[in-house]
Amino acid sequence: MYKQLQQRGMDSPPVNVSTLRDMKQAAEPIACLTAYDASFAQLVDIAGADVVLVGDSLGMVIQGHDTTVPVTVDDVIYHSRSVARGLRRAFMIADMPFMSYATPVQALDNAVRLMQEGGAMMVKLEGGQGQVAVVEYLAQHDIPVCAHLGLKPQSVHKIGGFRVQGRERQAAKQMAEDAQALQAAGADIVLLECVPNEVGRTIRGALQVPVIGIGAGPDVDGQILVLYDILGITQGRTPRFVKNFMQGRDSALDGIRAYVQAVKDKTYPAEEHCFS
Ligand code: KIV
Repeated sequence: MYKQLQQRGMDSPPVNVSTLRDMKQAAEPIACLTAYDASFAQLVDIAGADVVLVGDSLGMVIQGHDTTVPVTVDDVIYHSRSVARGLRRAFMIADMPFMSYATPVQALDNAVRLMQEGGAMMVKLEGGQGQVAVVEYLAQHDIPVCAHLGLKPQSVHKIGGFRVQGRERQAAKQMAEDAQALQAAGADIVLLECVPNEVGRTIRGALQVPVIGIGAGPDVDGQILVLYDILGITQGRTPRFVKNFMQGRDSALDGIRAYVQAVKDKTYPAEEHCFS
């Protein structure tokens, strides 16, 4: 009866939350990427990424908005269903969009939709201490949660731009306390965006759950980037932590493989991709 989940006839079994915890314990870097459709999801899976995030970055890279704020739960479900069909091994996380988790009850309703209709295995939400009650409520209902700290793109209008977070001592301390509180509330993964290396290192060392970074330096348990950024599709100015893995390669699969390999052998991120 359980065979489907454990094997699906593959060389290596599908990734789950305990695989990710074991990888942290074994200091094996966790390679993560976003995806928004079945074809790219299949490439990301074949390339060996451990985690695929259906991020609300889809609002920017797919829909062409300036921010992630306009993205809806229905949008994420639509893309998650497509991505889920392309995956065999990778663990799929779906983003909870702006204001879809303002109360614990609303969060549970929407997380259930993302899992049942979208096929998500975990949901991701942005927030610090303010989201502890929501994370606790989801965890009490056995919903796996990834808590996103540091730069929170859904708060861009409140912060006043996409900026590095946690540079000041007090802000870094607050972020570390938030991470602890979210872990204690039941978060299974903490994701850190755009923070100095030191902040990434400290939070990673203090938590039992895996810490995935995007612009959080090399000393975290795994890395994530937006797929279109590593494929060089994104136009205009890109953040410091972005690396185009298509340079010198002529197929998307090779570019994605190079990213996964660079995360695994820790050649990405290099110093030029970090904030200190
Ligand atoms: O929405 C997204 O793609 C994300 C990643 C940038 C981590 O949250």
